[in-house]
Amino acid sequence: MSKTPKLMVGNWKMHGSLSANAAFVAGLTAGVSGFACRAALCVPAVYLAQMQALLAATPVALGAQDLSAHDVGAYTGEVSAQMLRDFSVRYAIVGHSERRQYHGETDAQVATKAQRALAAGITPIVCVGESLAEREAGLTESVVKRQLAAVIHANGHCISEIVVAYEPVWAIGTGLTATPEQAQQVHAVLRAQLRAASAHAPRMPILYGGSMNASNVASLLDQADVDGGLVGGASLKGPDFLSMLAVAAR
Ligand code: 13P
Repeated sequence: MSKTPKLMVGNWKMHGSLSANAAFVAGLTAGVSGFACRAALCVPAVYLAQMQALLAATPVALGAQDLSAHDVGAYTGEVSAQMLRDFSVRYAIVGHSERRQYHGETDAQVATKAQRALAAGITPIVCVGESLAEREAGLTESVVKRQLAAVIHANGHCISEIVVAYEPVWAIGTGLTATPEQAQQVHAVLRAQLRAASAHAPRMPILYGGSMNASNVASLLDQADVDGGLVGGASLKGPDFLSMLAVAAR
């Protein structure tokens, strides 16, 4: 295992309410002190102001789930990287498979979003992952390498500032988790690709995501190239998320 503290990121997706968020953070604050892992919560954009205030007194950083590929201008409904910075956003997920799938985001758009985030001082969490059909066709490596290559190509030496999340699409929200060996295999491929792109940079975190929960988190985090988790469903339940943070801090 690496000595760098693990990074655990919750992705709330389209969940939350003012009252539920406040109750969640109250529970988190009571349990989170002294954890030697890094943690963040990526919340719906409308709750950033509320969560900025609530998380300020905790070690948990604030994250967004997406950002615009544009800097500023007539882009109705979009939120720019600079706007996110106004709310002390530290991380922004880019290229989540739900955005690639339901909003048609391309590798090139994801790369531009990562660029926007970096330019605003926000760490992009770049999601890559294959569908079940791609895995069954033996395309896992080529798919994740293609997705990451686009981001590497667009971001040059800044690539050392990114976080990568391997999220096999077939494992998201399905209860099907990649086995620790399956996760490690893909993480090792991504690690080699990052090293080749930025040989002298410090180790870049590669998170695993896809039905990660309190029961499987330990075996996944024990893998040599798994530096943390990007957690969906289990990050909505305070006690579950807390126990995952405790495992990550071992
Ligand atoms: P689940 O943990 O609900 O499978 O979601 C994973 C995910 O998509 C995190 O970004």
